[in-house]
Amino acid sequence: MPLITNYDEGGYSYQDYWRGRDYEHGAELHAMQSLLDPHQTGWIADLGSGFGRMAPAYLDQGRSVIWVDYSLKLLAQAQARYGPPTPSRLYVQANLNHLPFRSGSLGTALLIRVLHHLPSYDRVLREVSRVAQKEWIIDIPQKLHALARIRSVVRGQWHVLHEEVPINLSRRSSQVFLNYHPRSIEHQLSILGWTVRESRSVSNLRLPWLKQRFGTERLLAVERWLQPHLAPLQFGPNLWHALVRHDFGATSPMDQEEVLACPACLGRFELRGLHTMVCRSCHEQFICHDGIWDFRWPRPNTLG
Ligand SMILES: C[S@@+](CC[C@H](N)C(=O)[O-])C[C@H]1O[C@@H](n2cnc3c(N)ncnc32)[C@H](O)[C@@H]1O
Ligand SMILES: [Zn+2]
Repeated sequence: MPLITNYDEGGYSYQDYWRGRDYEHGAELHAMQSLLDPHQTGWIADLGSGFGRMAPAYLDQGRSVIWVDYSLKLLAQAQARYGPPTPSRLYVQANLNHLPFRSGSLGTALLIRVLHHLPSYDRVLREVSRVAQKEWIIDIPQKLHALARIRSVVRGQWHVLHEEVPINLSRRSSQVFLNYHPRSIEHQLSILGWTVRESRSVSNLRLPWLKQRFGTERLLAVERWLQPHLAPLQFGPNLWHALVRHDFGATSPMDQEEVLACPACLGRFELRGLHTMVCRSCHEQFICHDGIWDFRWPRPNTLG
């Protein structure tokens, strides 16, 4: 199993994947908008941001944003959409297992459509929990959704849904596309000190014949109403939680230098010129190319 699903390999286009999926995209933007606390402050980090698909749901909040992804191609696409880096907009290539941020430096962390790629999700959950202060929006691709329940009864496989191990839906043995029992993720999150403030059941009407018959706008109108009501039933294929943690004090706005930390040792950086950061503790150097900082760790050629 690969440690990281690399979207830069194999000519795959994630932007193309979203063509014709306006209903699912609209459903997710609505879930995000309704879950984000408008009073929250500090940096928003879109972790595993891809090309920044979710940005329309948070950019109008006027907060500083960091787009974080392993894929250079997707970050370049995000930059083409949202403009070059500024003191309050940052593009960062990084591995979610080793985030280049100081502990508690981010006001809000987003983790959307990422968990299904993570065979070692507990490590990533710990890492996100380390860097996020008070708010975390997480999307759990879940195996208990209504359609899966019906299928499991028909096939006599009810027990599979109730086991806490994730199921891998990928057709290729070398890849992972995991669906989880929500309880397994929620248990980890509560151990890390997070509580669920609100939940949404997302993409509840994701059936081709419904889409054809009613069209995107009408389906989305119903979806918006259904999301909070169906969340307790774990109805849809994706369960979103707004998580909060109360043990942090007031959030103070930080500038980029205060947010970033060495992904190898969490040491503080010294900026050399405009395009190089050097860790004051372990002396590793990290470079910025065309507006995107490369903080991948371990360095790509040493990945197993
Ligand atoms: C399905 S896409 C989701 C992108 C975006 N959140 C969205 O909802 O459109 C998954 C993303 O996670 C990124 N990713 C997967 N594993 C990663 C890792 N270990 N470190 C950093 N990014 C990772 C991929 O590069 C990809 O952009
Ligand atoms: Zn270091």
